[in-house]
Amino acid sequence: MKKFENKVVAITGGGSGLGKLSCEMFAAEGATVCVIDINAQTAGAVAESIVSAGGKAKAFAADITNESAMEKLFAEIHDTYGRLDVLFNNAGISPIGTVTTTSYADFRKVLAIDMESIFLGCKYAIPYMEKQGGGVILNTVGTFGLKPIPNKVGYACAKAGAMSLTRSVAIDFARSNIRCNAICPGFVDTPLNKDFTGEAREKFLDSYQPMTLKIQPEDIAKTALFLASDDARAITGQAVVIDGGTEACLYY
Ligand SMILES: NC(=O)c1ccc[n+]([C@@H]2O[C@H](COP(=O)([O-])OP(=O)(O)OC[C@H]3O[C@@H](n4cnc5c(N)ncnc54)[C@H](O)[C@@H]3O)[C@@H](O)[C@H]2O)c1
Repeated sequence: MKKFENKVVAITGGGSGLGKLSCEMFAAEGATVCVIDINAQTAGAVAESIVSAGGKAKAFAADITNESAMEKLFAEIHDTYGRLDVLFNNAGISPIGTVTTTSYADFRKVLAIDMESIFLGCKYAIPYMEKQGGGVILNTVGTFGLKPIPNKVGYACAKAGAMSLTRSVAIDFARSNIRCNAICPGFVDTPLNKDFTGEAREKFLDSYQPMTLKIQPEDIAKTALFLASDDARAITGQAVVIDGGTEACLYY
């Protein structure tokens, strides 16, 4: 039997990058995958390609910053499948800026997408998990939510908040058999970083990542599968860092 057979897995930001590959890899392990994205077209394409490869998936178009949309989304998932085993709060943006170069509106936008959406996802998914006797929540944080780098104030604040939410959810719902962990990728080539190329990108990696390997989306998705599985049954409230040594290093 495949690892996630009979499990329902919901992944936000499932239309692109790390979320897309995670949808495909959970589906390949037998999961029924809810591909959630604000972009209905990309979510639909990911669900379709999983189904045509013989997997189980359905697209759900939703803006994860909209409270009523989130409440409706998890009710719909519950009505459709009767359960939700894994919620992967993965969607996010990654703007640059300092407190003086970032507008207040843009600061609030990254807080809403990268942090508040996790509050909403947990708020509306957990009651269903509690009723069914447990579940797993994964939140994408990132190295710079643990330690900020220059010129990324909004992102670093939002991800630090997401890390704190991870710990709060882990301890508040441990007795409900719900585990909650954070996945912290370093730099991975995805559409999120499409404009960060060339010499600037190489220099950045050289300065911030001790290992010379290129972290692949698979490295992140495999960690998500591990943390969502029973192999990780005693792990909760943790940041699992996949960054080639960046966070471990004071200065490189
Ligand atoms: N790629 C990296 O180097 C890296 C590093 C650390 C952390 N991360 C984090 O990993 C996660 C995934 O990033 P990625 O690289 O796959 O990015 P990506 O841009 O390829 O995918 C992000 C997805 O989130 C969706 N999304 C954005 N706003 C949304 C909203 N309001 N509602 C619903 N969906 C929304 C987008 O439509 C997109 O499909 C993000 O949280 C990001 O911050 C990425």
